[in-house]
Amino acid sequence: MKGLIIYYSYYGNTKQVAEDYQKLLEMKCELLSADKVTEADILDNDFIVIGSPTRAFNMVKPVKKVLKKFKTAFNNKFVLSFDTRADIVQVNSKFLTFMVKRFGYAAEKIDKILVKNGAKLIESYKWYFVKESEGPITDESFLEIKNDVAIINKKLKEIG
Ligand SMILES: Cc1cc2nc3c(=O)[nH]c(=O)nc-3n(C[C@H](O)[C@H](O)[C@H](O)COP(=O)(O)O)c2cc1C
Repeated sequence: MKGLIIYYSYYGNTKQVAEDYQKLLEMKCELLSADKVTEADILDNDFIVIGSPTRAFNMVKPVKKVLKKFKTAFNNKFVLSFDTRADIVQVNSKFLTFMVKRFGYAAEKIDKILVKNGAKLIESYKWYFVKESEGPITDESFLEIKNDVAIINKKLKEIG
């Protein structure tokens, strides 16, 4: 099995998480920005990670485009999604807390589309907090990445 990590990043945080995943995953994975992905890239791989910043309670356009344009290519692929997001507790805004509860984040939406397109979730989506909007990712997030990838490595081993 071989893997592909698709990400998009404005300030570099989601890219950083994608690179951490690449380093920590035992499976050899290629790293590609979402705006560079072709259908063949998806078809060529067995395991696909998709990472997006959360913006306006959703995934960003280049990620949405990959999911829409190449939707049939995801059929039967093993997948894992993650997003980066601001910590709502740190932001401390009643209005934003209400909006987040109502409209959510990127990764849960990525999972929904992937499942609809016949992909198999290795694990439910992951998320990582960034400080403010521009980051960097928090120290806790880095520890979570390590823990999450250890679990994903185990699952991938079970699949073979
Ligand atoms: C225009 C804009 C909208 C954002 N909207 C949200 C949001 O709805 N929810 C959230 O948790 N974070 C939000 N953020 C924070 C982003 O999630 C954060 O900038 C992103 O994780 C950084 O990732 P990147 O460095 O890969 O671009 C927003 C940031 C910007 C600049």
